[in-house]
Amino acid sequence: METGSRLVVLWLTLLLTAVMSPCVHAIDPKQIDPLLYEEQLLWVSGVEGNVNTYRVPLLTYTPKGSLLAFAEGRKLLASDEGSKFIAMRRSTDKGATWSPTSFIVDDGTISDGLNLGSVVVDEEAGSVILIFSVCFHLHGCRPSSTMMVESKNDGLSWSAPRNLSVQLGVKNFAPGPGFGIQKRYSPAKGRLVVCGHGTLEGDGVFCILSDNHGRNWTNGAALKSIPYNQPKRPQDFNPDECQPVEMPDGSIVINVRNQNNYHCRCRVVARSRDGGESLPIDDVTFDYTLVDPVVAAGALQKDGVLYFTNPANEQHRVNLTLRWSVTHGKSWENKVLQIWAGPSGYSCLTSLNSGSPEDEKYIFVIFEKGKKDYDETISFVKIHLYGGQ
Ligand SMILES: *[C@@H]1O[C@H](CO)[C@@H](O)[C@H](O)[C@H]1NC(C)=O
Ligand SMILES: *[C@@H]1O[C@H](CO)[C@@H](O)[C@H](O)[C@H]1NC(C)=O
Ligand SMILES: *[C@@H]1O[C@H](CO)[C@@H](O)[C@H](O)[C@H]1NC(C)=O
Repeated sequence: METGSRLVVLWLTLLLTAVMSPCVHAIDPKQIDPLLYEEQLLWVSGVEGNVNTYRVPLLTYTPKGSLLAFAEGRKLLASDEGSKFIAMRRSTDKGATWSPTSFIVDDGTISDGLNLGSVVVDEEAGSVILIFSVCFHLHGCRPSSTMMVESKNDGLSWSAPRNLSVQLGVKNFAPGPGFGIQKRYSPAKGRLVVCGHGTLEGDGVFCILSDNHGRNWTNGAALKSIPYNQPKRPQDFNPDECQPVEMPDGSIVINVRNQNNYHCRCRVVARSRDGGESLPIDDVTFDYTLVDPVVAAGALQKDGVLYFTNPANEQHRVNLTLRWSVTHGKSWENKVLQIWAGPSGYSCLTSLNSGSPEDEKYIFVIFEKGKKDYDETISFVKIHLYGGQ
């Protein structure tokens, strides 16, 4: 229940903080005390017809204030290859109820089908763009292509897939998984920045850029693996799946899967100060607090606070945990929210950003969750940032 004097006191405190502090950096970290407020399983593997396994969930807000959830619907097998649907569900009431699943892309019977993916909201154009790959593993098909679909009506309908490799050139690029960003601050305000990774040998973090709302795309920053284009050994530098966020200073911080556990069993953090055109090695760091079992993780920048989700364990995909930083990722609060102790895999974060007090209170998480294996279900969680007080 959201009534009672405790909440009134909380609101007065928030109001005073907002009035008295000149910038969002003054948020008192003690005010953040997240509570797992609501949870729903959006997809359950093996239950609905035509889909063996749901994996790789993405979550986004829309310019109209809806939430869209996506996942790969792997038709016959649990493996990364094989043919798939892109499954989508839509919520227009802040995650309380969801539309039935619609399959917005179907790759047919291809031996190495589509892989999600990165969802990016173009607030200037009012559109939602989804970028994915096909034939990423070159298993019985070639070449690998980077594809895009777009919705201009809040996710109700989607364009036919468009082949971005025509503009970008043919290369193995697996976007995300997670969301791409539209730059809100300079440099390159308005630019769409979508980051992902290459193939095993040609691995690394790569970003693609669009300065005209997704019509034209160019290749941007590359943070290549070492040795590049050669087979890897354990502990080689092998940056992989990644999640970019824009910081208030206009730089892009990319939180990266450390595929071969180079230097630590923890996350790699890269930074671009030129709108996604470069990722200098001088700005690559290792975040020892963010221990990681080699997985795709979630990150979100909201109202001056950086949030992070992953299965917080050095060895296994278990223990899905939310962390937050009020120092732009330089340090993390000691307190954490354990979202699920058991098997948990990929995760993605979003929030509604209307500026209303209601939307400031919540963030949303989608993640792979199971009892024996992390690929049993896709769970949606609504988190009240001040609810634990
Ligand atoms: C995408 O375009 C590239 C470059 O023209 C081409 O080689 C590739 O076959 C195309 N992929 C698809 C799925 O049409
Ligand atoms: C954008 O792409 C279209 C084809 O899709 C091409 O005709 C046009 O010249 C491109 N514009 C720029 C600025 O590159
Ligand atoms: C879960 O994560 C928390 C926070 O990092 C950590 O203290 C705890 O040891 C982890 N538990 C397991 C089983 O990994």
